[in-house]
Amino acid sequence: MARLIAGLATSHVPAIGAAVDLGKTQNDYWKPLFDGYEPARKWLSEVNPDVVILVYNDHASAFSLEIIPTFAIGVADEFPPADEGWGPRPVPVVKGHAELAWHLSESLILDEFDITIVNEMPVDHGLTVPLSITCGEPDEWPFQVIPLAVNVIQYPPPTGKRCFDLGRSIREAIATYEEDLKVVIFGTGGMSHQLHGERAGVTNREWDAKFLDGLTRDPMGLTKIPFLEYVREAGAEGIEMVMWLIMRGALDDQVNEIYRHYHVPASNTSTGLIILENEGT
Ligand code: DHB
Ligand code: FE
Repeated sequence: MARLIAGLATSHVPAIGAAVDLGKTQNDYWKPLFDGYEPARKWLSEVNPDVVILVYNDHASAFSLEIIPTFAIGVADEFPPADEGWGPRPVPVVKGHAELAWHLSESLILDEFDITIVNEMPVDHGLTVPLSITCGEPDEWPFQVIPLAVNVIQYPPPTGKRCFDLGRSIREAIATYEEDLKVVIFGTGGMSHQLHGERAGVTNREWDAKFLDGLTRDPMGLTKIPFLEYVREAGAEGIEMVMWLIMRGALDDQVNEIYRHYHVPASNTSTGLIILENEGT
């Protein structure tokens, strides 16, 4: 049977991807951030998953304001890097796992999560930057990826509770897939940041720390955070953190926190990374 063994959450700031692509990760500005990614890379290469379910948000690359799916799953064999305005990032094509993705689609829909099924989907920094953070610059990504896109761009986004419950449903779906696969789930986006307006550049170290603590010890508490609290405390784009609750919902109630890294600033945002393993792992 397929086994979900761990979850990892990380920011997806596009400037981090640019630092990788332009060979700047060891300069004075970026080195402290990238040094903190090393233990996560080592952990992931040791775990060596077959498949990563990568929960992320599209930034008007695959979708636009014409069509805004709240939750969408990629069931293709391949997902090309999207052109975000400067050409696609020079990273490998993302290889999917169509069979598991279709199983997830069926299981989620039978469980009353009416997820949008997507056959063609270019993937932008929301998905490729977390891969660069956790895998570096390989010729091919070392695992198959099932992209799960969440609308956190256009109000109204899904609630944290809905995201957590989707994670629970994903957990059930993986547990009923017969092939022997080692699965890890990523939640991405965040942490506190706002890109526009008078509060552009806002970060909130204390709130981010509380969110990370809650993710490990009291995720149900986090599911009660209303939309406006994210915006007020973590900035408008801090709402991306609801995606971390999908990752957490997919894990067991009790988890072991394996690693945490927090750094401010990257571009004008705060960044975080956390690794949680199911206790039975
Ligand atoms: C930026 C864009 C993002 O999507 C994000 O989550 C953080 C920062 C940016 O353009 O700097
Ligand atoms: Fe973003």
